[in-house]
Amino acid sequence: MPKVLLLNGPNLNLLGSREPEIYGSTTLKEIEEKVAAVLSGHEIECETFQSNSEGEIIDWLHKHRGADFLLLNPGALAHTSVGLRDAVLGVEIPFIEIHLSNVHKREEFRHHSYFSDIAIGALAGLGVKGYLLAAEFAVDYIEQKGNNNSGS
Ligand code: DQA
Repeated sequence: MPKVLLLNGPNLNLLGSREPEIYGSTTLKEIEEKVAAVLSGHEIECETFQSNSEGEIIDWLHKHRGADFLLLNPGALAHTSVGLRDAVLGVEIPFIEIHLSNVHKREEFRHHSYFSDIAIGALAGLGVKGYLLAAEFAVDYIEQKGNNNSGS
């Protein structure tokens, strides 16, 4: 069964109560369940992980190399982490970068991301919907890959 990774970075475990005027009131568990539901409808497995530790996130990604697609909200690591960027490049998993908030409308330090130029695409400011749209994109991407491989 194809596998999609849903990886969330620092402080996203606080979703639901953290600055709800910016990040909304949906919890991370609810987001994970909604994404898994989109994927399971297409017989795609979803593995989720969140950590506040950069090292744990990188280690988890290394362990899951071989997955078909990555949905990544790096949180603040988007703006700081060459290490996580290198890990994403190293495992060679195609990915979409997701931010609940529109980082381009916020403080200047959030305008640059170490991931946007290596992602297939990036979604920012669409709230939870961004995760669901990214999951739908992952379904299409995986199904298309399957079709391309079926004749060879
Ligand atoms: C975030 C945006 C980041 O700038 C911030 O550090 C986060 C959350 C978002 O989802 O909007 O932790 O990634």
